Amino acid sequence: MTKPIRVAVTGAAGQIGYSLLFPIAAGDMLGPDQPVILQLLELPVAMNALEGVAMELTDCAFPLLHGIETSDDPMVAFKDADVIMLVGARPRTAGQDRADLIKANGPIFTGTGEAIDAVAADDAKIIVVGNPCNTNALIASSRAKRIPLKNYTAMTRLDQNRAIGQIAAKLGAAPSDVKNVFVWGNHSDSMVPDFSLATVGGVGEGRSVTDLVGEEWLGGEFDTTVRTRGKAIINARGKSSAASAAFSAINHIHDWFLGTGHNDFVSMAVPSDGSYGIPEGIIYSFPCRITGPWQYEIVKDLEVSAETLERMQKSANELLSEREAVQDLL
Ligand code: NAD
Ligand code: LMR
Repeated sequence: MTKPIRVAVTGAAGQIGYSLLFPIAAGDMLGPDQPVILQLLELPVAMNALEGVAMELTDCAFPLLHGIETSDDPMVAFKDADVIMLVGARPRTAGQDRADLIKANGPIFTGTGEAIDAVAADDAKIIVVGNPCNTNALIASSRAKRIPLKNYTAMTRLDQNRAIGQIAAKLGAAPSDVKNVFVWGNHSDSMVPDFSLATVGGVGEGRSVTDLVGEEWLGGEFDTTVRTRGKAIINARGKSSAASAAFSAINHIHDWFLGTGHNDFVSMAVPSDGSYGIPEGIIYSFPCRITGPWQYEIVKDLEVSAETLERMQKSANELLSEREAVQDLL
C-alpha cells in the first residue's frame, strides 16, 4: 500500500482551513491514489471548533484519509510532517494593507519555523498562506538548519488564478485554455502580473493573449484588478477570500508534487537566487518549472521588458523593507 503523506495545516479551524481540509482528504491535492494523514494545529481557544471540524472529516469517511490528529502544540502537529501548510494567522480587515499584519503575525512564524526544523520530515515542503505571506515565509525559513531553504515557499498562486480568471472572462474562454500567465514579486499591490507569454486556445494552437485583447486593457484594468483583488473581496464580503485561497493552496502543492500539466510554469514565491536581478534573502514570486515530484526551478531564460523589470525591482524593494521591519524576528 502507498505510504500516507502527512499533511500539517495550521489555523485549521479558520475560514481557509474549513475550505482546505475536505478537498485534501478527498485526494484533490496529492492525487486520487495517495493516502493522507492530517495533522491539524490551532490556538488553544479554537480547539473546540477544531474538534468539530475533525468530527466532520471523520463523518465523510474519505477513503484516502488514514488519520486525523489535532493539537495546539506545533511540536506535535509538525512531527514527521511531509507537507506543512501555514495558514494560521490574522486576516486583514477593510482599510488595512497586508503589510499592516506584520507586527501581529510575524512573531507566529518564529516558533513555527523552530518547531518545523526540530520535528518535521527531513525534506518537508512548506507553503505559507498567512499574510504577509512572503515575509512570514522568510521568518519561518530563517530557522531552517536541517530542512533545505528551497522548501520554504509562499502562495502567489491565487494571484495567478485571479489573472487567468480575468483573461478567460474577457475572452469568453475556458480558464483551462489560458496558459502561462504568472505573477512576479510580493503578494501585495506591488505584484507584477505578467501576460507577455500568455496564450489562449487548445494545446499547440494557442494564440497570444496580448494580440487578442490588446495592451490597453491588460496594462490597465486587468493589472489593477489582479493586484487589488484581495481588497475588493474584503470590501464585498466583509471577510478575506477563503475558498479561492484554499483552492489555490491546493493547486500550489498539487503542481509542486504532480506537475503543471499543459502549463510550462507556475507562480510560486520562493527564496530568490538572484535571478532577474532580484536580491537574495527575500521570498519572491517567480515563474517556476516543476522538474519532477517536489522539484522546482526558477525559470531563468525569459525576456522581460525594461518596464516590467523596473516594477519587479520595486516589488523586491518592498520585500526588503518588510524584511527590515522584522529584522528582530530573523
Ligand atoms: P481566520 O481568522 O478565519 O482563521 C485563522 C485561524 O488561524 C484561526 O482559527 C486562528 O485561531 C488560527 N491561528 C491564529 N494564530 C495561530 C497560531 N499561532 N497557530 C495556529 N493557529 C493559529 O483567517 P483566514 O481567513 O483563514 O485567513 C488566514 C490567513 O491567510 C490570513 O493571514 C489571511 O490574510 C491569509 N490569506 C492569504 C492569502 C494568500 O493569497 N496568500 C489569501 C487569503 C488569505
Ligand atoms: C487575498 O489576496 O485575498 C488575501 O491575501 C487576503 C487579503 O488580505 O487580501
